Amino acid sequence: MSHRASGKTIGLVPTMGYFHEGHLSLMRAARSENDIAVVSLFVNPIQFRPGEDLDRYPRDLNRDVELALDLEVDILFVPEGTEIYPKEFCTRISVQGLSDRLCGESRPGHFQGVATVVAKLFHIVQPHRAYFGLKDFQQTVVIRRMAQDLNFDVKIITLPTVREKDGLAMSSRNSCLSADERSAARCLKESLDIAVLQIREGERSADSIRTIIRERIAREKLARIDYVSVSSPKSLQEVSVVEGEALVALAVFVGRTRLIDNVLVRT
Ligand code: PAF
Repeated sequence: MSHRASGKTIGLVPTMGYFHEGHLSLMRAARSENDIAVVSLFVNPIQFRPGEDLDRYPRDLNRDVELALDLEVDILFVPEGTEIYPKEFCTRISVQGLSDRLCGESRPGHFQGVATVVAKLFHIVQPHRAYFGLKDFQQTVVIRRMAQDLNFDVKIITLPTVREKDGLAMSSRNSCLSADERSAARCLKESLDIAVLQIREGERSADSIRTIIRERIAREKLARIDYVSVSSPKSLQEVSVVEGEALVALAVFVGRTRLIDNVLVRT
């Protein structure tokens, strides 16, 4: 009999591995809120575009197994590529609109890949709760919409971004940074901090906020802006005035590594 059928609650943490404290915070929540804690580890090829960092994406399965064991995860699901995508596989789930903005604009097809694999994981694991980090804010919006639109019986739970001491959002990709790049990468959080301060002091022009962020990033020689966005956290559409809730988000290449970060502000 399956765990679900026997009345046990299942919590799923979907990941691409190379665990850091952000992943571990999701696992701790899944562990404490469910009878069975499942972590999936699959570097999903269809969410990477040709020329992106699929081959360079950091991997260390032995270390990840140790960390999952330490946290008393019940099942670490590490499928083979062909298990998820057999040769004939040709289906994609498209969450329209929400997938095309912010990261979706510079990574067309990325969120189709994410939505497709997460839907498959929901079918395979049948979780009652699924856990995602807010560093990938847009991903959480897309997945919540997909789960609702496709009637998945799962509660999407989001947890705050976990940061390094100097503010850099934890990401598996941080391990790809050289020492100089690591130091330059502080500009993401610093620029968001400046934006938050300006909004607190009364700035309401979204364009001024975008400019303030761009100016801070431009001071870093190793950094190149992909996008700077001030949007509605529900529709992810760009706004011109910051009022009520707004999502300030950015993606920046530091060297060859693309990093993202965001902050939710309320006026
Ligand atoms: O956030 C991630 O690590 C991935 O996008 C996810 C949700 C595991 C899907 O591959």
